[in-house]
Amino acid sequence: MSARQILTGALALTALATPITALADVVRGEALFRPCRACHMIGEGAVHRVGPDLNGLVGRRIGSAAGYEYSDDLTEAGAEGEIWTDETLDRFLAGPRAYFPGTNMVFRGITASEDRAALIAYLSAEGGAPDGAAQTGGTDIDPEIATILEIEGDIAYGAYLSSECTACHRAAGGTDIPSIAGLAPSVFIAGLLSYRNGTRQHLVMNALAQRLGDEEIAALAAYFASAE
Ligand code: HEC
Ligand code: HEC
Repeated sequence: MSARQILTGALALTALATPITALADVVRGEALFRPCRACHMIGEGAVHRVGPDLNGLVGRRIGSAAGYEYSDDLTEAGAEGEIWTDETLDRFLAGPRAYFPGTNMVFRGITASEDRAALIAYLSAEGGAPDGAAQTGGTDIDPEIATILEIEGDIAYGAYLSSECTACHRAAGGTDIPSIAGLAPSVFIAGLLSYRNGTRQHLVMNALAQRLGDEEIAALAAYFASAE
């Protein structure tokens, strides 16, 4: 079904509560999806191409379309139970590599937030809902990461704590200091835990991470995910 068919279909149903502005978004989103078609299919009969088939995307676990081989970043985020929501999609589409540094999706990102919202409205309308299995629990969950992901991070507290980090981690990133602004929470939390438990060695990061409790890591992850 095309967005235009959805629109006319919906307009015919006068009882439908969907605001017209949302339907206009879907139509605009269809046009914005054109460059994505170089790598993705969506709708009836869609199959994986360079990128995965995007049916049932909104609400399904990240990196979980059956039969598609994802990068480690997306596979791990999904394994920790992270879901594609309006919010996570917005961040990914704004800058795929800023959100998941290891993603295989080579795409510069969409600057205007209205355009991202329209595109997400289209993906949701055209691709439909995920099947049940794709919405729930990961397959290979690291319990420590999953525990922290479940905590709703306090962004204001994270902003307060971040003053200890931004002296080194500047927005653009340095030569040997990685940029952490805009990182997906699963990537951020896995990074801090690897310093906290010593699987990754860096004098300052080990010392800092060992002082951070789960609540603090969740707050920092929420803050940095939302930081530009
Ligand atoms: C040059 C090819 C290419 C283009 C263009 C492209 N993508 Fe992708 N996309 C990919 C690849 C490859 C992946 C898998 C990424 C990975 O495994 O890290 C992907 C993954 C995704 C995912 C995650 C899907 C999942 O199952 O977790 C979404 C959402 C997505 N793309 C949306 C888009 C949208 C929307 C556009 C257009 C604005 C777009 N892509 C343009 C190649 C592309
Ligand atoms: C003295 C400078 C310094 C400070 C302060 C600092 N970092 Fe780091 N951080 C680094 C360096 C350097 C690395 C890369 C180390 C390595 O190669 O493993 C790093 C790595 C990281 C990573 C892993 C990133 C990735 O791409 O894998 C995260 C996450 C991180 N830091 C978060 C923080 C947080 C949160 C704070 C504040 C609580 C903080 N850092 C404070 C220097 C610093």
